[in-house]
Amino acid sequence: MAHFLEIEHVSKTFGANGAAGIHVIDDISMQVEEGEVVVYLGPSGCGKSTLMRMVGGLETVTSGRIILEGKEVKGPDRQKGMVFQSYSSFPWLKVIDNVRFGLKFRTDLDTREKDRIARHYLQMVGLGEFEDYWVNRISGGMRQRVAIARTFAAGPDILLMDEPFGALDAQNREFLQLQLRDLCLKERKTVIFVTHDVEEAVFLADRIFVFSARPAKILEEIPIRDLLPPARDLKLRESDTFFKLRNRILGLTRTQALRSEQLEVKGA
Ligand SMILES: Nc1ncnc2c1ncn2[C@@H]1O[C@H](COP(=O)(O)OP(=O)(O)OP(=O)(O)O)[C@@H](O)[C@H]1O
Ligand SMILES: [Mg+2]
Repeated sequence: MAHFLEIEHVSKTFGANGAAGIHVIDDISMQVEEGEVVVYLGPSGCGKSTLMRMVGGLETVTSGRIILEGKEVKGPDRQKGMVFQSYSSFPWLKVIDNVRFGLKFRTDLDTREKDRIARHYLQMVGLGEFEDYWVNRISGGMRQRVAIARTFAAGPDILLMDEPFGALDAQNREFLQLQLRDLCLKERKTVIFVTHDVEEAVFLADRIFVFSARPAKILEEIPIRDLLPPARDLKLRESDTFFKLRNRILGLTRTQALRSEQLEVKGA
């Protein structure tokens, strides 16, 4: 059976034609099914963003193939929605118009339906009451939430989220984790989510891929969906299973972080 997303023996070397290429991704293969939330966890600089950017078509593969819904990924398009760490909203538009902007190309929807969708995702990010605010008048954290709502509203087949909550304060972060998990469950979103935060990874994921230090290989795949219920709430974070999972993964990532520091010292 064909998989929704297939990463087949993908490697990446930057500056491969020059004398000293940086080998970033080393023969990674994985399959992602529709409706899954997959989290990438790994030491800084190991290649998580690079792999995600290749899935998004923003970066080319050096070897291997990436197949999304039966077609090889050749470049960015509306099939793939991307959210990055930094705010990327349009400051000259109102909050609601920023989200509507994401729906501009949806010729299959009439204006009323577009408004309904825009408001639905604004509610999800907790900005229902701010729709008429100018974006340059709201806080950075709120702008990031606008960008998230816009990307969801555009209705991509897969959402690629690269540390999207990284710059948010703890409360906003927790709120959005809850909302995202809930939404993925209700609307069967397919998501690849990159984070440094082990608790965030455990809370959001159906599966976690732990990467090694650069060049990134898959060190371990953790089937969170077999260990935690699909619906997640804040109480779950205090459960024994959650705590044990978190500690085990922290142990794994610590060894890798150490290795990557040693590599840096050696200048490798
Ligand atoms: N365009 C590029 N040209 C050359 N090297 C690059 C390029 N983009 C990334 N790299 C290098 O590839 C390696 C992996 O980078 P990447 O951003 O994928 O890591 P990451 O795992 O996302 O790290 P972080 O957790 O810090 O975001 C780094 O050593 C980086 O310097
Ligand atoms: Mg990164």
